[in-house]
Amino acid sequence: MNLGPMHISFDLPNLSRLGSRLLGGRLLGSPLAGRQRSKVKPLAGETTDAAAGVPGPIRRRFGGAKAVRERNGQLAKAVAADADLDPRIDLYQGLPLDLQQECTDKPYLWEYLCSIPVDDIGVPHYYPRLTKDLRYLKYKNLIYPVSADAYIHIYPDVEDTRDSYIAIEPSNIPTVPDLMRRVDQQMMAKVMRLHSAKDAGARAELMIQFLDEICTVDEKHRRFQRKTISVTEKELFGLKYLQIRDKQGLGALEPLIQDLHIEDISCDGVGPIFLEHKVFGGLKAGIRFDSPEELDRFVIKLSERIGRPVTVREPIVDSVLPDGSRVNIVFGREVSKKGSNFTIRKFGETPLSFLDLIGLGTINYEMAGYLSLTLGAGMNIFVAGETASGKTTLLNAITTFINPLHKIVSIEDTPELQVPHPHWAREVTRGNGRDDASVTMFDLLRAALRQRPNEIIIGEIRGEEGAIAFQAMQTGHTCMSTFHASSIEKLIQRLTGSPINIPKTYIDNLQLAIIISSVRLADGSPARRVVSINEILGYNSEVDSFEFVEVFRWNPSTDKFEFPAKMNSRLLEEVVAVRRGLSGQDTRRIYDEIDDRATIFKRLHERGVTNFYELYKILSQAHREGLFR
Ligand SMILES: Nc1ncnc2c1ncn2[C@@H]1O[C@H](COP(=O)(O)OP(=O)(O)OP(=O)(O)O)[C@@H](O)[C@H]1O
Ligand SMILES: [Mg+2]
Repeated sequence: MNLGPMHISFDLPNLSRLGSRLLGGRLLGSPLAGRQRSKVKPLAGETTDAAAGVPGPIRRRFGGAKAVRERNGQLAKAVAADADLDPRIDLYQGLPLDLQQECTDKPYLWEYLCSIPVDDIGVPHYYPRLTKDLRYLKYKNLIYPVSADAYIHIYPDVEDTRDSYIAIEPSNIPTVPDLMRRVDQQMMAKVMRLHSAKDAGARAELMIQFLDEICTVDEKHRRFQRKTISVTEKELFGLKYLQIRDKQGLGALEPLIQDLHIEDISCDGVGPIFLEHKVFGGLKAGIRFDSPEELDRFVIKLSERIGRPVTVREPIVDSVLPDGSRVNIVFGREVSKKGSNFTIRKFGETPLSFLDLIGLGTINYEMAGYLSLTLGAGMNIFVAGETASGKTTLLNAITTFINPLHKIVSIEDTPELQVPHPHWAREVTRGNGRDDASVTMFDLLRAALRQRPNEIIIGEIRGEEGAIAFQAMQTGHTCMSTFHASSIEKLIQRLTGSPINIPKTYIDNLQLAIIISSVRLADGSPARRVVSINEILGYNSEVDSFEFVEVFRWNPSTDKFEFPAKMNSRLLEEVVAVRRGLSGQDTRRIYDEIDDRATIFKRLHERGVTNFYELYKILSQAHREGLFR
């Protein structure tokens, strides 16, 4: 991320303090933890973790991993040597072996473990990687890594319905926030030198170098330092981590951003931050805002960091984070009664592919075959569902099926879509639509019609742009979009009602509607499933009703998909087959083509090809060679 000097002042001391206060207060302060700590002799490893303190990417410069291991390996020996004196030996020996190993590499993880009330919650398990099956764990008390230095601890909160989610970071040391403030004052004098850094990596290295210049390691804080700040190795490690986390990342939110299992981060106002975890569902983060002022300060910094500062006049911001995640901020108590709020919807750098979605059980190979044929033939398609049901993700995944030679224009309020095609114009609205400088979806869509695109992808249709989309379809442009509606009936109702007002007889310009939903599987676990794919046949004015065919449907009791329109799909037989040169008796061969494609997709999947861009490359190569048209 390219940070100018103005960003150097970006700091989230409140949050970082909050993080450590929570650890230092509720957990460290628990009676058990206090008892443990008071008896504990300092361990050799606690004072020899200098190199381990360097944030991941820059570690190479500070003594190799070998030096780190050698020095920190003393921790294990020290624990063993102090067996008689140190009550923590029981804890250490009770740890799973891989967690013991992690603790020798990362002493702050060990200290964290010493601080938690293991008698009450038990010894956590360690998972280097999370798997889907873990969702069935009845009692969740586990630790897993989210980056080179940060770990997450999940454990049950008996007083709450949501389990707790605590980030374990090298900076969780009570003295670090104050030291950081002093470091920041001295950093000011060096800010200009950051200009010379050509990218974020170089800037991070410079920051680490400045910290080495500003701080002097003095384990006992005995020496009086006139020019430098006296710190222990452990504090220096924490400061370096914090410096990068807060100045280049999103402060205390950074471990949550790094955690690929997090889908949503939401702060509803004063109080805790809530999370949606891909494996464990709803969780409560160990970060909370205790006052509206604290929250406002954080939200202002967050909005400045993403280059869209909120103000009292412009209190609502929709934007994207550098990693592609979407963020929405509402600033101030006037418009949000519990205080400012924000939501971050995580998106990975590489979008989920249709094979990823098959892996997740959202669609199956046959449906992918059907969609590749219909999209390849230029059918208009809407993906509809409720909030956060996975509409945008599915729409994005199936863009792979669009003819690789086509020109695509995408139009969005917030740039979420990532189309793999080279001939892709990405257009984004500007402003709030209330002044002359604003450029709305409606404006962009009208302009797109003059750009001769083969496909127009509209991020989401909400209002009057829907009418333009139908005009575009009417004039031969293929349109794809997402739409908030939980069923085909509601989709049609909303399209024909105010404010979109599509004439009923125009509805069949939309040929396909996919309905996706967040569901509970029979075992109670959450999942996303395409509950139906529907072909819209048209409006029957005699009975004033719309006709559609359910081509695929999800069966909740078996968690399998059915293909009721097999040998009975009007769109496939009368449009797609005809466009593919099949006629008469041959039209039904279109169903064999679905099977053939399903087999190809399955083989690719079995070969481990799931990457969104790699899949696009393979399919477009096959297209060029005439194999996949
Ligand atoms: N099929 C899926 N399986 C598992 N997770 C998914 C699936 N699809 C999407 N997700 C995750 O769910 C979250 C919501 O996805 P997405 O933004 O696509 O939903 P949406 O319906 O477009 O939401 P909105 O209503 O806000 O526009 C994302 O974090 C995404 O990674
Ligand atoms: Mg969406």
